[in-house]
Amino acid sequence: MTPSLIIANWKMHKTISEAQAFCRDFIVLSRGLKKTTVVICPPFTALAAVAASLKSSDIKLGAQDVHWEAKGAYTGEISPDQLVDAGCRYVIIGHSERRQILGETDIMIRKKVKAALGAGLIPILCVGETLQERQENKAYEIVEQQITGALKDIEFTEEDLVIAYEPVWAIGTGVNASYQDADEMAAHIRTCLQNINTRVMAAKIPLLYGGSVKADNFAEFLQGSINGALVGGASLEADSFFQIVRLCESA
Ligand code: 13P
Repeated sequence: MTPSLIIANWKMHKTISEAQAFCRDFIVLSRGLKKTTVVICPPFTALAAVAASLKSSDIKLGAQDVHWEAKGAYTGEISPDQLVDAGCRYVIIGHSERRQILGETDIMIRKKVKAALGAGLIPILCVGETLQERQENKAYEIVEQQITGALKDIEFTEEDLVIAYEPVWAIGTGVNASYQDADEMAAHIRTCLQNINTRVMAAKIPLLYGGSVKADNFAEFLQGSINGALVGGASLEADSFFQIVRLCESA
């Protein structure tokens, strides 16, 4: 069975002490989870503190970005090995905020995926179309380009990778995609994955939905082939995040 995954993307939120307080509360709430893996992706500044807070729990640590080089003169960047050293197991790559605001291209994203895999990190590769692309019926083509751009000719197995479908128009807007749209896109993504890597069992790669996920809209997503969520705003409070985790655990 494909594992259930709920991932918190805190983006540029929380000081170290706020992150520690969240972990204290969330660890108590989430004791005894049986089938849901939870990953928390704090800002870089809080990685070490969150790693220490999560040590006695099963909750995993992830970062929000990574550079593709191992070391060198790359001011402001963080290497895959530095993330591993900080206690990370996962890393978000190709988030639409980085693609759109910081100009990340598929070429950069592919280098990041390759470097992360090489260091033993699990990339959480984000893909998704803008509102204009959806309105022009280009959503499938765009997502296929993003998947192919990031993963073609890269070696990976079912255990190495997570894909998050995050339609740009649904991020932080309060307007989530419909469960049917997300499920149809999930099927398309699995076909793309299978086409570019015939050795992998694409059905087993965890496929998440992200974009205005909250406890009161997420239950229906779990009826289909979506394996979990990448959560922004609703992951900032332990209670609201745990409500989403609980839905996944009882699905
Ligand atoms: P929101 O849940 O705040 O819409 O953010 C989604 C997201 O971008 C997660 O990576």
